[in-house]
Amino acid sequence: MSVRDSLSVVQLTDLHLLADPEQDFKGQKPWHNLVAVLEQSLKAHPVDLFLLTGDLSQDESVESYQQLYQLMQETGVPWHWIPGNHDSVDLMQALHPIDFSVVSGEWQWLLLNSQSGQPHGELDESQRQQLLQALEQPQALYQAIAIHHQPLLVGPGRQGENHNPLMDNSEAIAGIDSIPLRDQGWLWQTLTGFPAVKTVICGHVHQEQHLVKDQLSLLTTPATSIQFASDINEFQIADLAPGYRWLNLMPDGHVESRVYRLEN
Ligand SMILES: [Fe+2]
Repeated sequence: MSVRDSLSVVQLTDLHLLADPEQDFKGQKPWHNLVAVLEQSLKAHPVDLFLLTGDLSQDESVESYQQLYQLMQETGVPWHWIPGNHDSVDLMQALHPIDFSVVSGEWQWLLLNSQSGQPHGELDESQRQQLLQALEQPQALYQAIAIHHQPLLVGPGRQGENHNPLMDNSEAIAGIDSIPLRDQGWLWQTLTGFPAVKTVICGHVHQEQHLVKDQLSLLTTPATSIQFASDINEFQIADLAPGYRWLNLMPDGHVESRVYRLEN
């Protein structure tokens, strides 16, 4: 915890890096976007912690992870990463740990690995047990959760709840909502049973949203690479600048947060 008493966190997500930093990905240069977003965030805030919430590499190349590792180390700021559906856990762990719990002052971050081997996400039994234990025996007054896959539907399909999105034929369940966290009902029900949990952040959806369900907020964040249009039915690319999310976790349990996009 810094002398400011609050914890200043920057979330970077869906980097989709490639082995060649000059290579294009759907009209963007992911490496250059990331460097610019990172520099902007460091100028704008006194950052205590970076959280990288998955889809770090698009091609799962050793080079993409090595370059990312080097870049983050050079910031001198503590940083943690979790895998997305596009990531190699082995390559990540060879460079930098994939931690489950990060404690700073009054706050404990729980970093979930939702990688299932498929495009959608899932928490395996060991993740569920680890989470339950951490919720029942918190190491700080307040907790925040980070996960790659969205633990609530983010598109039109969220109007109709109580269904398994992967089994639903509704046209509303399409695009990114067709590959969410599969066990999102279990996770949300579990988290809302613990009042110390104040917020959840995720990647995967490549756009900004702020949803509230059962008094718990889900914050989604623009990618540092490509953006998806708000009509998520078609994975349509939006002409929006890359961005990041800043969170200020207060010592009284309040959470301030805002998305910033790259300024040119
Ligand atoms: Fe992604």
